[in-house]
Amino acid sequence: MQNINATSLRVLDNRLWILDQQALPQQKNWYRVTTVHELIDHVRTLRVRGAPLIGLTASLLLGLLAEQGMSRTELLSALAQLLAARPTAVNLMNNLARMGEALATADYSDAMGREALRLVEEDRALCEAIAGHGATLVSPGSRLLTHCNTGGLATAGIGTALGVIRRAHRQGKVKQVWVGETRPLLQGGRLTAWELGELSIPYTLICDSMAAGLMARGEVDAVWAGADRIAANGDVANKIGTYGLAVLAHYHGVPFYVAAPHTTHDAACADGDRIPIEQRDAGEVTGVSGGFGSCRWAPEDAEVYNPAFDVTPASLISAWVLDSGVITTGQVAAGVFRRPLVS
Ligand code: MRU
Repeated sequence: MQNINATSLRVLDNRLWILDQQALPQQKNWYRVTTVHELIDHVRTLRVRGAPLIGLTASLLLGLLAEQGMSRTELLSALAQLLAARPTAVNLMNNLARMGEALATADYSDAMGREALRLVEEDRALCEAIAGHGATLVSPGSRLLTHCNTGGLATAGIGTALGVIRRAHRQGKVKQVWVGETRPLLQGGRLTAWELGELSIPYTLICDSMAAGLMARGEVDAVWAGADRIAANGDVANKIGTYGLAVLAHYHGVPFYVAAPHTTHDAACADGDRIPIEQRDAGEVTGVSGGFGSCRWAPEDAEVYNPAFDVTPASLISAWVLDSGVITTGQVAAGVFRRPLVS
């Protein structure tokens, strides 16, 4: 397979490597991935995370295993196991559907590798297109708030919502980037902060609970978030806390934008209530852990509720910025998400 060099994903001499996103930014640990079992563990522990990246990494591993001579039966079983690695982000299912089509061909051992590479190349192009469309919505002098991490770490390219911010910043239109820390796993505080630093884009880190006060003071001009699944009615599942930001934005009259590739769209899912929401381990809420070490602050017997995602209803979203262009609320009401999207 051709080499790939992305922010958090590499293929070098037919070997797959992932950057541990749980250890960043304190440690830059690259792990070689050789088996489906290893990758599922990396995905479940969020060493590999972000909707597009999960699907691409799974596809690349299958492509490499096919090239190494794994049988069709074994590949089918590997694909089924990977499908169940995380339930909410539909990019994994959409990418693996494409890999399944390649697996069904006569020359699957080459076709799967080619398809995985195509998915990576496409993802890069989708990110660029999203950034181009999204930047048109950013006014000069904007103060933008973003949540979680939707950048190069979460994709093979420049990212989705963070790609928009990056492009708008390059165009000189961004005055301020507010980065929400994104409890419990701190994808904003650890990953987005690190990425923006690497890109020399100034940012200000806030606790999630500070967004309301900032909006009340008129210091946020727009919120930009990514998506893990866009349902047929335009509802969006994304990192826990996104819905709260959308409610706040609505109350304060601040536009709330969702940026995502069409691989995040699920026409078969009627609305947000039908999106499966992953529930995660209590330890993520009773303390913190990462490259900085770990600590626990809650009582040993604390009951915990820890959904990884929440659903933002379409009614709170100002526009959906996809690779195909800016989708308006009117288009969503007319059913644009009820059919498969074409890039
Ligand atoms: O649990 P995570 O870190 O995988 O959640 C990631 C998000 O919610 C992102 O906003 C989403 O996947 C879009 S990434 C381009």
